[in-house]
Amino acid sequence: MLTLKGVILHGGYGTKLRPLTHTGPKQLIPVANKPISQYVLEDLRSSGIIEIAVILGNIHPEKVKEHYGNGEKFGVKIQYIRQHEPKGIAHAVNLCIEYVNHQPFIVYLGDNLLKGGVKNYVQLFPNSDYDAMVLLCKVRNPQRFGVAKFDKKGKLLQLIEKPKQPPSNYALTGIYFFKPIIFEMTKQLKPSWREELEITEAIQLLLEKGYNVGYQIVQDWWKDTGTPEDILEANRLVLDELKLEIRGKIENNASIQGRVAIGENSIIKEKALIRGPVIIGENTTVEPTVYIGPYTSIGNNVIIKRGEIENSIIMDNCTIDINDRITDSLIAPYSKIISNNNTPHGKKFIIGERTHIQL
Ligand code: G1P
Repeated sequence: MLTLKGVILHGGYGTKLRPLTHTGPKQLIPVANKPISQYVLEDLRSSGIIEIAVILGNIHPEKVKEHYGNGEKFGVKIQYIRQHEPKGIAHAVNLCIEYVNHQPFIVYLGDNLLKGGVKNYVQLFPNSDYDAMVLLCKVRNPQRFGVAKFDKKGKLLQLIEKPKQPPSNYALTGIYFFKPIIFEMTKQLKPSWREELEITEAIQLLLEKGYNVGYQIVQDWWKDTGTPEDILEANRLVLDELKLEIRGKIENNASIQGRVAIGENSIIKEKALIRGPVIIGENTTVEPTVYIGPYTSIGNNVIIKRGEIENSIIMDNCTIDINDRITDSLIAPYSKIISNNNTPHGKKFIIGERTHIQL
């Protein structure tokens, strides 16, 4: 059986996720303590795709290489390709002509999460008559995406990028299957209103020229993680499937309720309350009387001295020591949130560009 080559897009500026994306690409932001693009890579791997090109952008590409290396740790072979300007998905696809080398391939946006994964589609595509195949998902806000238009019989007629008046509720997920004919279309594209080469337009060209474009509708959840709210929602969706797994130490009188995962060398001290679903990484300390509520992910080497946390992501090496509740928050690595009674009285901030604080 023909196998597909994999292409993971790991570029873009992630402007809607600043300040988190000042120090790393959006695809490395952790959801339930794992970088978003690692879910993508693992999905490809478990679908039998071993050869993967990772397209790197300008936001700390070295951090991506540092995490994935040559892919060996993850059971895949990675080749990195640099995209020096964020000129769109079709521009990134164009950079893969040699890599793809006349084989069918899958393009998977590194900030997209798909429950259930792509395995079934990966098996279906290479042996099908399709020249391209897209995965569609029914959404409430199609204006934000590429949207499909069908005829009465459900035949795909048109794909429109970010339509003001969407012809349907079916959005293009960021997962595309192509045969090499797509390069004939991507080469013809002109930059769109947002100065990008749109993959939606390349697939539209295939349709117009009479090529066979298939679609599949994903039944379970799919999440594009472009904004802080999306990341928190993705975190909730992944934590909804978390299994109880306690490797760290729970002191007597600490209370663990529901599905909670606690990593090695972490300690939950007496009278602390953890109410799942919650994931806590390794070497993290939760001090007495702290409350950690549902849908919270706490990374490695974190110290929670005082405070309450709910529906949030606290990344590695943070310290939280407050007499208050943190909710709906994304806290980047090495941050400290501390309250004390020092004088002069007032709130003290040392914060990066585009930080959001809501008091
Ligand atoms: C891109 C595509 C869009 C697709 C979306 C899925 O949008 O252009 O058609 O629906 O990914 O995540 P972007 O994230 O660039 O706005």
